[in-house]
Amino acid sequence: MPKAHIVGTGSSVPRRVLTNFDLETIVDTSDKWITRRTGIVERRICSSAEKEGTADLGAQAALKAMEMAGIAPKDLDMIVVGTVTPDRQFPAAACMIQNQLKAENAFAFDISAGCSGFLYGLSLVNDTIRVGSCKNALVIGAERLSSITNWTDRGTCVLLADGAGAVVVSADTKKGGILSSHIQSDGSLWELLYSSYGNSFVPEILSGLDTKPFYLKMEGNRLFKRAVEYLTAIAEKALKENSLSCEDVALLVPHQANIRIIQAVAKNLNISMEKVFTNVEKYGNTSSASIPIALDEANRQGLLKKDDYLLLIAFGAGLTWASSMIRWSI
Ligand code: ACO
Repeated sequence: MPKAHIVGTGSSVPRRVLTNFDLETIVDTSDKWITRRTGIVERRICSSAEKEGTADLGAQAALKAMEMAGIAPKDLDMIVVGTVTPDRQFPAAACMIQNQLKAENAFAFDISAGCSGFLYGLSLVNDTIRVGSCKNALVIGAERLSSITNWTDRGTCVLLADGAGAVVVSADTKKGGILSSHIQSDGSLWELLYSSYGNSFVPEILSGLDTKPFYLKMEGNRLFKRAVEYLTAIAEKALKENSLSCEDVALLVPHQANIRIIQAVAKNLNISMEKVFTNVEKYGNTSSASIPIALDEANRQGLLKKDDYLLLIAFGAGLTWASSMIRWSI
């Protein structure tokens, strides 16, 4: 049976940097508060002047991953994009990326699983490769959260950002690759984090002059606690299924939402922060793009060696959470 191996990584972030000091001029906040409570120092925000849509960033990240993998567009069978901010309600960002890449032999679609979108996509691609229905796939996380951010809400606008990351996943019978994937959700908690517009319950045509805000809404405190609990649980599940202990894991790459969530999970798992990759200080929370961006940086910095055990964990709107245990094989 073929196994799914990550054979290339890539990422792309907007050029424009928005610092905590810039945010001090927009809302009632301070660099000190944001740094202490979140670990974020700056983030990247798309600019309408640049060619920086969700699909543009996703395609750029994909091209870098394909270059590393030595995969041509025509070799791709499948393109899956985790996103909650495609450029249009439809078609899928994945189809727009397929067009930019000229990957004419692939089928393409989006997954909406909040910040877990990339790991949901990786899980699906893993299964598809294992049953022999796909040889080469692109899994992308791409977001333009700035488009749904309420820039007057200091509780959320200091956290969110834009960017994209991608991996090429290929079928191979060699040792290693994706060892396990776990994906979970709990729809009863959807109201902890959602967008208040877009296919709204009451059709726009019936709502008269009632202009609805289309912003992201979040209950930060309650999410924080669930994030720590669920990320810990799904990491433990991945370890158990693979008969591994924390000491076996060479690198943990968690969703980059808040450094305090990451530290709490690392503490629960008894994993030293030296083995946890973080870049939340540079990019903020880029939702489904955060893990593939972090993975690409870790890979290009040479932090992953062949045969290393790599654990990816995500948590997001839905609520959704997910993990993937990988034996690095590049
Ligand atoms: N600047 C200054 N003060 C602020 C800011 C800000 N940007 N935001 C909130 N405050 C104030 C609040 O008004 C509150 O003031 P009060 O005590 O006078 O009422 C005080 O700071 C404390 O607010 P809390 O919400 O309790 O602060 P907390 O320490 O919980 O941090 C945060 C808030 C950063 C949002 C945290 O709860 C968090 O990170 N939650 C998880 C969010 C998250 O990860 N969301 C995404 C998960 S899924 C995904 O990634 C899409």
